Amino acid sequence: MNARRERNLREMGLAPVWRLRERQAQGATREASAEAPAAEAASATSATAPAKAPALARKPAIPAPALGLTVRAAAQNPADDRTARILQMDWAGLKTAVKDCQACGLRKTCTKTVFGVGDEHADWLLVGEAPGAEEDARGEPFVGQAGRLLDSMLAAIDLKRGENVYICNVLKCRPPGNRNPEPGEVAQCAPHLVRQLELIRPKLILAMGRFAVQALLATEASIASLRGRLHRYQGVPLVVTYHPAYLLRSLPDKAKAWEDLCFARRTLLALQSQAAPPT
Ligand code: URA
Repeated sequence: MNARRERNLREMGLAPVWRLRERQAQGATREASAEAPAAEAASATSATAPAKAPALARKPAIPAPALGLTVRAAAQNPADDRTARILQMDWAGLKTAVKDCQACGLRKTCTKTVFGVGDEHADWLLVGEAPGAEEDARGEPFVGQAGRLLDSMLAAIDLKRGENVYICNVLKCRPPGNRNPEPGEVAQCAPHLVRQLELIRPKLILAMGRFAVQALLATEASIASLRGRLHRYQGVPLVVTYHPAYLLRSLPDKAKAWEDLCFARRTLLALQSQAAPPT
């Protein structure tokens, strides 16, 4: 392990136990696994996952409309002209729509909208909850303490913000005092996330925390019960993990998040090499 990764893992509270290991497995299939006394990354079976992964040599189009719970409701309402318009937008139009959005009250209280950041053709899409204070001030997601942890986690699996990674939130405006998003706010903001997903067409979605998971999987099940299995959002593999802000408070779950990241990475590598996802 190089010094940078060691540092990142230590920052995540995972070193020296956890190591990312590259190995060649069956021809071109590369896997990343967490070498740990307690666990390998969890297996990839789920009620929401088909038995075989589709070949993802080319990114599949994500059929619109989509998403779960209030997100699905917002995106699927054909009588809603606003949603229909958003679902037709290109990147420039969508960015302007978010900046000018007044659909819920949050734009009145936030400083800057936080659209999302990164490679607009990324394989990896990371979805969080909503901007916090620093994000609100800077207009970029995950730039506070949780964001620094997220960057370290990404670095530990050789990923970097902006390079084949796109990061956004369910809500584009900060809820006052960092309170939880309200269902109406999620519903109004949902078409923005749906359209981001359609434009990016990621190969893998990492849903971080309760609100991202609820929005994308239409479930109120706990993160603990959903993680460690491969889910799908409109056919796109989706891995559930804890929110980085939660991980800052919960050391034991950092190790689980590390498992989730390794699982996500293995899944993507397997898909890229046209193999079945890891079991
Ligand atoms: N938490 C989130 O969910 N998103 C951010 O951008 C920052 C903190």
